[in-house]
Amino acid sequence: MADIKEILTKSELSRTDIVSLLEARDEDKTLLFEKAAEVKQKAVGNIVFFRGLIEFSNICSKNCYYCGIRSSNPGFGRYNLADDEIVEAARFAHLNQYASLVLQSGELMSNVFTNRVARLLEKIHNATNNELRITLSCGEQTRQTYQTWRNAGAHRYLLRIEASNKKLYEMLHPNDSNHSYEKRLECLYLLKETGYQTGTGVMIGLPFQTTGDLADDLLFMKNFAIDMVGMGPYIEHADTPLYKYKNRLLPLEERFQLALKMIAVLRLLLPKINIASATALQAIDKLGREKALKTGANVIMPNITPGSYRNNYLLYQNKPCTDDSADDCKNCLEVRVALANNTIGYGQWGDSAYFTEKKQHTG
Ligand code: 5AD
Ligand code: SF4
Ligand code: FES
Repeated sequence: MADIKEILTKSELSRTDIVSLLEARDEDKTLLFEKAAEVKQKAVGNIVFFRGLIEFSNICSKNCYYCGIRSSNPGFGRYNLADDEIVEAARFAHLNQYASLVLQSGELMSNVFTNRVARLLEKIHNATNNELRITLSCGEQTRQTYQTWRNAGAHRYLLRIEASNKKLYEMLHPNDSNHSYEKRLECLYLLKETGYQTGTGVMIGLPFQTTGDLADDLLFMKNFAIDMVGMGPYIEHADTPLYKYKNRLLPLEERFQLALKMIAVLRLLLPKINIASATALQAIDKLGREKALKTGANVIMPNITPGSYRNNYLLYQNKPCTDDSADDCKNCLEVRVALANNTIGYGQWGDSAYFTEKKQHTG
């Protein structure tokens, strides 16, 4: 049996140490969570930054085996919000001092899409006095497109690697040129080179995934010197090909605990980065997102997508907040964050402290 107490005193964690931490149970797990909370408080404080999440289109050209909005799924309405609706949601975020937005969509690669998003960024900045930090999460694109969006005022970009193990990645995606592991990795490098605060993440509790894979995911993030991470439990969706492996999955509660442990270990590995408390945590446990704040997360993405569209962005089942409004989520989260003894960093951009520090060192 690994001595968790001893592991938690080390300044460098090996792969074996990380696996032991991810497998910790009972008091050992509590020790890990306490340590992560302590490191979080010292490195970034008990402040949570809000990012208003706008899921502006569920149209996607990809066919990931796990995702409810994959292109071959015909069973629901596809939508694409009008620019005015998106700008209105951005105004809500601005008025309510969220200070940051995330614009997320399915993955489309075309000049029309590139230009549309660039125009949208400009419209949002104009409507909000240039006071919002904007994160994009629009998938794999060319260097040129990433540059165009960066020039139009996007500062951060989220692109989950989903699984850093190439073999596992390939089990989760169709075997075609539209779903290449190498391309995805290359995009992460392009984002970094283009000057974005770069975010990635993985799904936790996937079929065929081992704790060794998860340890490698964390080391991947560390070696990449990632600025932000959003990762959450995998939740099976009945209308997807991966559903057939549902009997091989860990029980939901265990997947949830594993996700909390991943967040905690990541906080130890990269104390100053921003770590999102993923919405998928709340699909399993009603208090999921606040529990993650106590084990190292420091970002929450309240959904501000206009209500009528939310039911059509079902990446996984049981997605929370689909019947709530932006105001509901704000009120709800204020209570929840206070229960986790954190304060909301209203009006603060909350850039990744790690990103800022790296930049100072390189001039
Ligand atoms: N369970 C959990 N997360 C999922 N995502 C997609 N499908 C699922 C699922 N079934 C996540 C992916 C993607 C993000 C937008 O949603 O990690 O990057
Ligand atoms: Fe499209 Fe993203 Fe879903 Fe894959 S995970 S099908 S890229 S929305
Ligand atoms: Fe959306 Fe609680 S966060 S209703």
